[in-house]
Amino acid sequence: MSATEHVQLGLPELPAEPYPAEVRERLDADAAAVVARYPQSRSALLPLLHLVQAEEGFVSRTGIRYCAEQLGLTTAEVTAVATFYTMYRRRPAGAYHVGVCTNTLCAVLGGDQIFAELQQHLGIGNNETTADGSISLEHIECNAACDYAPVVMVNWEFFDNQDPESARQLVDDLRAGAEVRPTRGARLCSFKETARILAGFPDERPGAVDESGAGGAPSLAGLRLARGETLPGTGGGTKVVAPRQQESTDEGDAEGEQA
Ligand code: FES
Repeated sequence: MSATEHVQLGLPELPAEPYPAEVRERLDADAAAVVARYPQSRSALLPLLHLVQAEEGFVSRTGIRYCAEQLGLTTAEVTAVATFYTMYRRRPAGAYHVGVCTNTLCAVLGGDQIFAELQQHLGIGNNETTADGSISLEHIECNAACDYAPVVMVNWEFFDNQDPESARQLVDDLRAGAEVRPTRGARLCSFKETARILAGFPDERPGAVDESGAGGAPSLAGLRLARGETLPGTGGGTKVVAPRQQESTDEGDAEGEQA
């Protein structure tokens, strides 16, 4: 089939273009470091996809070809993985990739409204990028941060307990170049820089690793209750969940009584 016929049918032209020599030379050194971490090279596919995403801001067909060549896989195998995991983008991301959780809990607490209003405010739809390349928008599934719902993520850092107004302010600040701090975690870097960290390369920004922090009070509430502690505002002696230790003692007593 000729290239013209491919275009007419809407099919991609194969094989994809390789990276320019200077890009390839740089990527080769990084890819070798990634592959060396694993006993079998194919295990390096996920970080390698992040590496090519760090290069272009998304996983292009060229990036897929590169990963396949590095790991001795087919482009079909690499494509299957790249299209399965939603953190790999198939279209260029903005410098700041904004994800609005519209999964059940966030949705009912306002996530759907935030997403609708951000689309209108930015003038873009799902998986699209503003014309200035600053913001891309995506509705995303549960971020395992339901205790802070509704949650918005920017380059995978958390912005908790959002509402339409705070979310609009957030994207306006990002576009204006104002310093924006996530509710938890390290300060923001660009989407490409984030992708490189996800490929397993160190976060070189001074102090950034220490900023990652630990679980917040809402996340630890269940653990505290399971330990038999009481939480502020729950009425002092209220135990929502029996302490594990007490539970096992009770079970032991019951077994003893049966004997
Ligand atoms: S439903 Fe949004 S973080 Fe879980």
